[in-house]
Amino acid sequence: MSDKKLISVLQATSKQSIGVIRSLLKSGKYSVRALSLRGSESSEAKILLKEFNNSKDLEFVKGDAKNTDDLKKVFKGAYGAFIISPNIDLEEVNFEEEEWKYSKIQGDLAAEAGIKHLIFSGMDKFDKSREELRKEFPHLFFVNRDQVREYYESLPIQYVSTVALGYFYTNFIEYYRPQVLEDGTFVFGLPETPSDFPLPYVDCLSAPGPMVVEIFDHPDQNQHKIIPLTTEYLSGNQIAQQFTEITGIPAVYQSIPKDFFLQIFGDKKLTALKVIAMYEHSTKNSYYSKDNKDIYLSNSKNPNQPTWKQFLSKYQWKGQEYAEIKNQLVQ
Ligand SMILES: NC(=O)c1ccc[n+]([C@@H]2O[C@H](COP(=O)([O-])OP(=O)(O)OC[C@H]3O[C@@H](n4cnc5c(N)ncnc54)[C@H](OP(=O)(O)O)[C@@H]3O)[C@@H](O)[C@H]2O)c1
Repeated sequence: MSDKKLISVLQATSKQSIGVIRSLLKSGKYSVRALSLRGSESSEAKILLKEFNNSKDLEFVKGDAKNTDDLKKVFKGAYGAFIISPNIDLEEVNFEEEEWKYSKIQGDLAAEAGIKHLIFSGMDKFDKSREELRKEFPHLFFVNRDQVREYYESLPIQYVSTVALGYFYTNFIEYYRPQVLEDGTFVFGLPETPSDFPLPYVDCLSAPGPMVVEIFDHPDQNQHKIIPLTTEYLSGNQIAQQFTEITGIPAVYQSIPKDFFLQIFGDKKLTALKVIAMYEHSTKNSYYSKDNKDIYLSNSKNPNQPTWKQFLSKYQWKGQEYAEIKNQLVQ
């Protein structure tokens, strides 16, 4: 490793982290120690290692972001850390407890290792209290992330900043791929979300990286800040219309009723209920806090964040399955 500031990146092959690693290395100011279950053997790690000519500034550590020894290894001697909420299956009955447990371990060990600046990929503050939200939406799975952020900010870590990503464009490829009717029309759908209701979107692959570099570069300005990462607000109708504009494929949007969404998810009932609660919360309350005046901040810091139309043009997505296009997405 060089004398550049070392950043530990957890869940290094996640969509967000790949772009973060790329931007940190491209900045020329940071080196990266990347923790991944598959170490340097995954296709994502190989893409990055090749892209940076096996630079000494990029090291992959094979390990689990929920394992104390692996975390100690990845944080040792690092200046900063980029942390995403630990990967817990949405089918897990004790999802919130598990997420809290491992988030706490990650923060505690980062502090113990002397990390100076922690960037947490979390959520914005909520307009309602956590208790109210839990009562309103018992399956809303990310209420705890507000508490995790507060906990990280209370730790003996000099700087803590949070990024709050909007909905990923990739969700329409990875999780809610449009149904195709017999006449070839694509039907986009989200649970319980009216066709004209605008939601915040972002390209999770390319948007977080430049902002994370900006935050590490300016720790004082970003101390205890929550930085929204959102490119644009789009309704379901606009998602479908713009898809047609770019691909030429006819498309419409239809809100998916709760019961039908549960049927689609079959055995994965808890996952379906959590996803439904997430969209109900976004439409009935608000995705970002209503006080947040800075929802387009990341656009001003990084004018190259792709819009949905640019995302579609860039990746030439015309309805392929996620597995088919994944390597193209992370290139
Ligand atoms: N989808 C959205 O619209 C949206 C919006 C805002 C926030 N979020 C949040 O974003 C997060 C997901 O981010 P993402 O989509 O970028 O992730 P992702 O692409 O789903 O990546 C998950 C990665 O984590 C790694 N991983 C899994 N378990 C691990 C472990 N125990 N230790 C180390 N690495 C592990 C896996 O890589 P390896 O196999 O290489 O380890 C995998 O590539 C979630 O917390 C979600 O709530 C999502």
